[in-house]
Amino acid sequence: MRIKFRVLFLFCLIATLVNKTYSQQTQIQLQHPSDVIISKNIYGHFAEHLGHSIYGGFYVGDSSKIKNTNGVRNDIIDALRKLKIPNLRWPGGCFADTYHWKDGIGEKSKRPSIVNTNWGNVTEDNSFGTHDFLNMCKLLGCEPYISGNVGSGTVQELADWVQYANFENKSPMSELRKQNGQIEPWGVKFWGIGNEAWGCGGNMTPEYYANKFREYTTFMNSTNKTKLFKVASGASDDDYHWTETLMKNIPLYMLDGIAIHHYSVINWNHKSSATNFTEQQYFATMKEAWKMEEMVTKHSAVLDKYDPQKKVALVVDEWGGWYDVEDGTNPGFLYQQNTMRDAMIAGITLNVFNNHSERVRMANLAQCINVLQSVILTDKEKMILTPTYHVMEMYNVHQDAKLLPLSISKSNYILNKDTLQAVSASASVDEKGKIHISLVNIDPIKDQSISINLNSEMYKSVTGKILTSATLQDHNSFDDTNKIKPVSFAKASLKGNILTVPLPPISVVLLELQ
Ligand code: AHR
Repeated sequence: MRIKFRVLFLFCLIATLVNKTYSQQTQIQLQHPSDVIISKNIYGHFAEHLGHSIYGGFYVGDSSKIKNTNGVRNDIIDALRKLKIPNLRWPGGCFADTYHWKDGIGEKSKRPSIVNTNWGNVTEDNSFGTHDFLNMCKLLGCEPYISGNVGSGTVQELADWVQYANFENKSPMSELRKQNGQIEPWGVKFWGIGNEAWGCGGNMTPEYYANKFREYTTFMNSTNKTKLFKVASGASDDDYHWTETLMKNIPLYMLDGIAIHHYSVINWNHKSSATNFTEQQYFATMKEAWKMEEMVTKHSAVLDKYDPQKKVALVVDEWGGWYDVEDGTNPGFLYQQNTMRDAMIAGITLNVFNNHSERVRMANLAQCINVLQSVILTDKEKMILTPTYHVMEMYNVHQDAKLLPLSISKSNYILNKDTLQAVSASASVDEKGKIHISLVNIDPIKDQSISINLNSEMYKSVTGKILTSATLQDHNSFDDTNKIKPVSFAKASLKGNILTVPLPPISVVLLELQ
């Protein structure tokens, strides 16, 4: 009897300890729907002339054996349509401020070549140009977002590009477009005025760039059908002075969006391998990813000071993880694998954007294919979808849905003496009245037990999907393309207005309530 009692006591003790060590309680409180719509453009992508993003990634040319439509790979078109890609930024990045668009129009064999000085000094033959890009966007069903050349271009050159793309009536540029086979204007709405003007885009001061922005945009004309949305080249990371100077010096009526760029990089001189990293390096990457919350909050506060009506959008037009390139690849091509670590970056970053969608109305993951935190990797005719692709696909239910603001209790992911918030969440309600909640647990060891107060008892059923894997380093490869993919998740349970969700370590869960 005594032995039995001791065994029972020991069992209870171990169970309590295990629970303490491996499971945490997190409370989430949903609030009433706001009037804020989560712009689908938060789920945007980026395609620079860099490595195998365009050539071999999107574009193989129409004589390729790989199945294509006007040179664009059919497998890529299918995958990105399924993702519901809302917009695509092009041609850079740093490349944009070296790009002269007239080199990329007309008969391909007659187009001049240039050197891609930012990315490996490779020859750019300009075989993928304005028509190729804008027609590709039509195939993908997304809006083009063009970055204009301010660094080495001219006001006239950018004004001409706008006219070439958008002008309906007779003009020198619309006639040239027609000669090149495109009768109807494309109607390009989103225009970036240079890129990283503080760095590769010209090493300008914010005061000087603010004047450049005013000058360039003065000559970029909207048409009856297409009202331009002009985005100023914004700050690097936490450079709030840059944002403040632009807001002070550019009249609100001239400005639609102001950009920021932030990469989750541990240390620019000592990055980590994309697949072979320690928990310490993972923790440091997550710390950088979480900084997006602080940066978006503080840049938004600067915007609020000058634009309380929230006319100007915060456009995070480059974000993602940045690691060492894969062994044996060109260092200038920024080709990296994509693991569960990247899924965690994507999950928490997209939740940050959703929760700040009153101000963040556009964002672009860097980059779409074969560069940095890609959603797709290609190897000749083969293609794989990365964990980041799957997160973006799971989250696409939030596109253009109404934000459900939420509050979340503290949850600790502790390593050594440092602590990060372990759980991230966002929620929305779509036009059919379905609620979607996206949850992330970045802790690689501890489960989280989530209790969500829905604020309403009207929901009768809950379904879900989960993306998770045994280790942080797990990834899809050309030999094992489906190692990581979302599977159905039936562990969430609903009782009245309380939803209980056991969230495993390193997981992204998407729940639907109706
Ligand atoms: O995305 C790669 C590069 O990172 C872009 O060209 C540049 O804008 C940024 O520094």
